[in-house]
Amino acid sequence: MINHHDAKEKAEFLFGRKHQLFLNFVAHTTQVKNAIIYLKNKVTDISVSIESPELHYLDVGCGYGDKTLAIINQLKTRLKVESTALDPSPSMLSIFKSTATSESIKFVRSNWEDYQPTRKFHLITSIHTFYYVNDWQKAIQKMLAHREKNGVICIAIRDTDEVCKFRDYFSNQIHGKNKPERNCNELFQLLAQLDIKYYVDFVTSQLDVRDCIALNQDGIDLLEFVLRHPYDELSYEIKNQIRDYLYQYSRGGFMPQRDGYVWIC
Ligand SMILES: C[S@@+](CC[C@H](N)C(=O)[O-])C[C@H]1O[C@@H](n2cnc3c(N)ncnc32)[C@H](O)[C@@H]1O
Repeated sequence: MINHHDAKEKAEFLFGRKHQLFLNFVAHTTQVKNAIIYLKNKVTDISVSIESPELHYLDVGCGYGDKTLAIINQLKTRLKVESTALDPSPSMLSIFKSTATSESIKFVRSNWEDYQPTRKFHLITSIHTFYYVNDWQKAIQKMLAHREKNGVICIAIRDTDEVCKFRDYFSNQIHGKNKPERNCNELFQLLAQLDIKYYVDFVTSQLDVRDCIALNQDGIDLLEFVLRHPYDELSYEIKNQIRDYLYQYSRGGFMPQRDGYVWIC
């Protein structure tokens, strides 16, 4: 089993060997749809403020690229766009490449820490990636170093929502360590400490946990993604507690999610 707190190992497990768990999670949430609606509006404003006929865009941890493509297509309505999509997972990149056949995107198979960019960017996004990056300060400073003048950085990361509370509660039960997953409050503190100005928008969504309550295969896969632990290896008591928790805290089989979109301008 993965070491729950090693960011690199966790990423390799969730987006490489077990990437179908991530895709199953995506199928159970309105998070992606709501993020895309939000991002499309946002990048329209950004494209207006960029004083360059050509925009260089970098997505750090692009995954299978649904948000990356939505951003590129929106930017392209106003500007010429040169895009770089970076991700360490070959599985994610291969899905992305298969859906982006008409786009000329530079794909980079690397994590952010090891990548050596050869240029600066007007827009750098990193959406739900920082959970898998150990040193946030270094990662942000590297983004700042590769930002064009007047360029914009967006880091999206979850808030302490109901799904987060569920994970943290059971992570403590399973691993016996009270070490919650990192969230946007930690990012706010770090940015304040580094004296980096930012603002945040929150985007809400819902996780559909009805399959978890029905305990069918999709539900078990969803629990494995959220808890980062094989369901079969959980004790009988914990399985019962999970069911009781979901009955008690999910509203009609849905749990609220809330993500912070942190903008450094
Ligand atoms: C939750 S997915 C998010 C993907 C995409 N940004 C989205 O919002 O759908 C996290 C992604 O970050 C990638 N990742 C993990 N560690 C990373 C690192 N150190 N640097 C860059 N990307 C990383 C994973 O391979 C995975 O595709």
